[in-house]
Amino acid sequence: MAEPHTKPPQPFTLRMRRYDPESGQAPYWQEHTIELEPHRSVLEGILQARDRFDGSIAIRCSCRQAICGSCGVRVNGEPALACHTHLDAAMRGARDGVIEIEPMGNMPVIKDLIVDMDAVHWRKVQRVTPWLLAKQPVPQREYLVPREAMVDVTQTMACIQCGACVSDCLAMEVDPGFIGPAALAKAYRFVGDPRDAQQFERVNDLAQDPRGIFDCTHCFNCVQACPKDVNPMGQIMRLRRIATVDHHIVDRNNGERHEAAFTRLVKDNGLLWEAELLPRSYGGNSWFGKFAPRAGKELLSSLPAIIKALLRGKVTPAGALRPHKIPRRDLDSVRTIYDKVEGRGERYELNLFISGHDEDEQPSAPSAVPAGEADESR
Ligand code: SF4
Ligand code: SF4
Ligand code: FES
Repeated sequence: MAEPHTKPPQPFTLRMRRYDPESGQAPYWQEHTIELEPHRSVLEGILQARDRFDGSIAIRCSCRQAICGSCGVRVNGEPALACHTHLDAAMRGARDGVIEIEPMGNMPVIKDLIVDMDAVHWRKVQRVTPWLLAKQPVPQREYLVPREAMVDVTQTMACIQCGACVSDCLAMEVDPGFIGPAALAKAYRFVGDPRDAQQFERVNDLAQDPRGIFDCTHCFNCVQACPKDVNPMGQIMRLRRIATVDHHIVDRNNGERHEAAFTRLVKDNGLLWEAELLPRSYGGNSWFGKFAPRAGKELLSSLPAIIKALLRGKVTPAGALRPHKIPRRDLDSVRTIYDKVEGRGERYELNLFISGHDEDEQPSAPSAVPAGEADESR
């Protein structure tokens, strides 16, 4: 049973980023000391500051229980739901004894802690056709689909569209055009749904788009930021596997070839041989790849970066020419993993979001979904 919250109210100082684009003034920090029990939320602290000290503080909120997704902010530099962050926990993460609250990143600020979700987040969600394109003929009554297939998409259905993942996406910071973690997680919601008629078209579209699934840099920020464990990066990797392994899509962004070169190099050497990655990605997945005209062109355009890396000692000429070595025994272990994974008859996608089993079911592994089953709609 949960411990009752018995601690009395205590003071907490909040440092809030204030900005009103219409005022013409630059953003500034403002501090207020509020008094609340430590288990109360940062949102309650902001609302108290607004009630007691400054009625012009702007914050968006509705449910106050981590359901509606409206109160996304940054607390001490990390994306969070203000209503789902306890004051005592926020205080533990405070750098100088003051809880710092800012608007989310990667989206324009409308006022203070409110960002323009329409301009970025919702526009990107619309980009992925976020509705079911039903298989025909539509049944007279409901579609019957395997229960496991729906469990597989449940994780993405947990998204509350708060934008925390968008706020901290490194790829979006560099390329604001990137479709982004939340929208791509939404895309998997329909790509993985056996009732949808356009799985190939959807993944092909997202693979061929230069700002699509291959634009993600695997930084894990979205995984860490998400308050609902949607694991957006994991959903992007699933989209990639469906595009490359199931539909054999060779995209114009070189994503599929890059992935193939990467895995082959690790299989052959036990570690990544960075200097070989680019030529093989562009010229073909073998040592001779570097002699292909396309690889030469890419190598030439990457020369400034290569010279910089050499000058800074990130790459040495010897390291570029020879693969990194690991002991033979370790290399054998790496290859055993490859043999095991590649030798499997079907791919298993592990949905770690749902655990346990229904009482009327045989105890089995309901979270493990054979990829092939996703098409068995009846
Ligand atoms: S893992 Fe990919 S989608 Fe997620 S935050 Fe990083 S770059 Fe963005
Ligand atoms: S994936 Fe998570 S962090 Fe991103 S919008 Fe959905 S709930 Fe928020
Ligand atoms: S107010 Fe609804 S999620 Fe915080």
